[in-house]
Amino acid sequence: MIAPSQTDLFGNPVCEFPSTRYQGSKQKFINWIWSCLSGLEFETVLDAFGGTGCFSYTAKKHWKSVQYNDILGFNAVIGKALIENQGETLNESDIAYVLDFSHHENIPTFISDTFHDIYYTDDENRWLDDILYNIRSMEDEYKRSLAYFAVFQACIAKRPYNLFHRKNLYVRMQDVKRSFGNKKTWDTPFETHFRKFVAEANRSAFDNNKLCQASCADAMSLPSSYDLVYIDTPYVSGDGKGTDYAGFYHFLNGMIDYDQWKNNIDYSTPHRKLQTSPSPWTSPSTITIAFSSLLEHFRDSILAISYRNDGIPSIDWIASALESYGKDVTIFESDSMKYVLSNKTTKEMLLVAR
Ligand SMILES: C[S@@+](CC[C@H](N)C(=O)[O-])C[C@H]1O[C@@H](n2cnc3c(N)ncnc32)[C@H](O)[C@@H]1O
Repeated sequence: MIAPSQTDLFGNPVCEFPSTRYQGSKQKFINWIWSCLSGLEFETVLDAFGGTGCFSYTAKKHWKSVQYNDILGFNAVIGKALIENQGETLNESDIAYVLDFSHHENIPTFISDTFHDIYYTDDENRWLDDILYNIRSMEDEYKRSLAYFAVFQACIAKRPYNLFHRKNLYVRMQDVKRSFGNKKTWDTPFETHFRKFVAEANRSAFDNNKLCQASCADAMSLPSSYDLVYIDTPYVSGDGKGTDYAGFYHFLNGMIDYDQWKNNIDYSTPHRKLQTSPSPWTSPSTITIAFSSLLEHFRDSILAISYRNDGIPSIDWIASALESYGKDVTIFESDSMKYVLSNKTTKEMLLVAR
């Protein structure tokens, strides 16, 4: 059972989801999303497009049996660290172990050799080669995942736009007057970021005494036997712009397959992106068919679908498709607005289909 010290007076787990910076994260809407599900009866939950894992984590805190899933391998490692992990943490000696580079004379230097002048400085690239070498040698899967989690978040924090979509180290290095305060975060040493994210990940670890697991698969290939499926697909905006997650975060995916990384890079790209196959979720011409197949596949579960009022396909299209499977659909609209680059506001929506 969960230890008394891990719960508050009301028996709720005392733990906290770490801070993350991820395209399309629903962290700031998560309490609202969960409140829309009140009154529904379910025990097993699939978070099919898991991303940061904030939905899975909330479900885990509410004593559900949770399957976290994401098609990107680095996200599945995050799922291991935050969802599947039953309370393992990194102690001082684990941290000292991963930060001890004193015997690193002949270790692989793939990042230094391949990504010079692309995302990080030479010293920072070398730090990444060093720490990844140590992390790969950690025996415990959950400690390893926690360490990867902290490196991923440190890498994201130090990137302009928090992405790896361009060769733009120069944005960080330019000696110009800036109207925004990111430069300090970019120039904070990797080790400082790493230690902060380890502390946050440690605070998130707990066991809810239910089966919680993380997987890395195409959502369509997962079993359709869950009581509730939360769906938060990549979003295609009304003007047809998709979100290419594999392209945005390829550098983190490369890290978890360090020894094979060199074989998987598309060397024709200036930013040394990983080779990827096209995804039906990134284009306005294919996303509607993908949605159709997905809704049919999970038609027997309660479906909770995060969406925005201006997405492709439209909310009305999704609601009609759900109704055609005999579902009773409720559409919730959040009070918070989000400004996108075009200066238009979009509203966060949730469709719940029973
Ligand atoms: C909008 S994000 C999810 C955000 C997440 N709900 C959160 O709050 O952090 C969409 C996620 O879907 C993942 N993804 C894209 N195609 C997928 C597929 N076919 N199967 C599973 N996951 C996929 C992406 O890697 C991305 O992390």
